[in-house]
Amino acid sequence: MNLPGLKIGDRFVDLPIIQGGMAVSVSTAELSCAVADEGGIGVIGATGLSIEELKRQLQEARAMTKGILGLNIMVAARSFKEVVYESLRQKVDVIIAGAGFSKDVFGICKEWKTPLITMVSSVKAAKLAERLGAAAVIVEGRDAGGHLGTEAKTEDLLPAICKAVSIPAIAAGGFVDGKAISRVMALGAAGVQMGTRFLLSSECTVHDNFKELLLKSKISDLVRILSPVGLPANAIKTPLVEKLLAGDQSIRPDKCNGCLKHCSGSFCILDALKRARNGDYERGLFFTGSNFPAIKKILSVKEIIGDLMEEARACMNGGEVPVNP
Ligand SMILES: Cc1cc2nc3c(=O)[nH]c(=O)nc-3n(C[C@H](O)[C@H](O)[C@H](O)COP(=O)(O)O)c2cc1C
Repeated sequence: MNLPGLKIGDRFVDLPIIQGGMAVSVSTAELSCAVADEGGIGVIGATGLSIEELKRQLQEARAMTKGILGLNIMVAARSFKEVVYESLRQKVDVIIAGAGFSKDVFGICKEWKTPLITMVSSVKAAKLAERLGAAAVIVEGRDAGGHLGTEAKTEDLLPAICKAVSIPAIAAGGFVDGKAISRVMALGAAGVQMGTRFLLSSECTVHDNFKELLLKSKISDLVRILSPVGLPANAIKTPLVEKLLAGDQSIRPDKCNGCLKHCSGSFCILDALKRARNGDYERGLFFTGSNFPAIKKILSVKEIIGDLMEEARACMNGGEVPVNP
């Protein structure tokens, strides 16, 4: 049995895989095009990019692939609407709104006839998203990279959300192999969004220090922080994180460019994510999904997707997990 493709509004991809958008130049044109070329949805993370940089990346990506490209933007970002409009002008295929909920974006995407996917972590939010016109929801649990909206595991949230909505529900959070894909699809998911597995790919353009840190860290190095956005997140314990957890005031920024709608000011998350991207262990904030220790190697996107599909198919055909029972 082959895996079904994924239909988001009027867009269709051969594989039920979305590469999670990762802020501050972690998922750039190179990574998203590689995923789109393999038949999944490649997603550029827009948060932390200037409008000029975003435009450049979207144009570059469009020229590089004929596949389906998405754009992820955090609702919590002050430039949220500006980014959405610029992405629509650049003819992105799908918009994905994470870290917060914006009612306005539904109307904007409808007007531009572009499918909108929202990140949810409850039945209530999923039903609201469907009612407002979302083409799909991404159900993200506590094991995900990036900002978290719940303490529940994705697999515990999925069945009730799949039952409550008739739009596709895509599972995210801690999934790194094909077994997980077959498991969540058996629970009713239409596909899987993966971030950390694609961060650890050759096409991801973050500094090698970021990738090496994830490869050598253990689960005991993972901590839960409270981001200045006001949401928890999984991160590797680095000197900056230790200071944050200890309530050290010296990490508070002395200048601010107001990138977030609301910011606690405990530290500058934009600078910290930029430093992580550039490989600065001392002063960087390294976001990761909690299942990073299961990833042993940096592989090309082609190899990652080949392995994922082969393993998912084997699980489904071997009867280890029932498919759409
Ligand atoms: C470094 C990093 C940055 C992320 N940035 C964003 C973001 O800007 N917006 C968003 O909606 N999700 C963001 N995420 C979440 C991913 O899109 C994805 O949903 C998540 O990583 C899934 O969990 P996994 O990493 O265990 O696969 C980020 C994740 C990571 C690891």
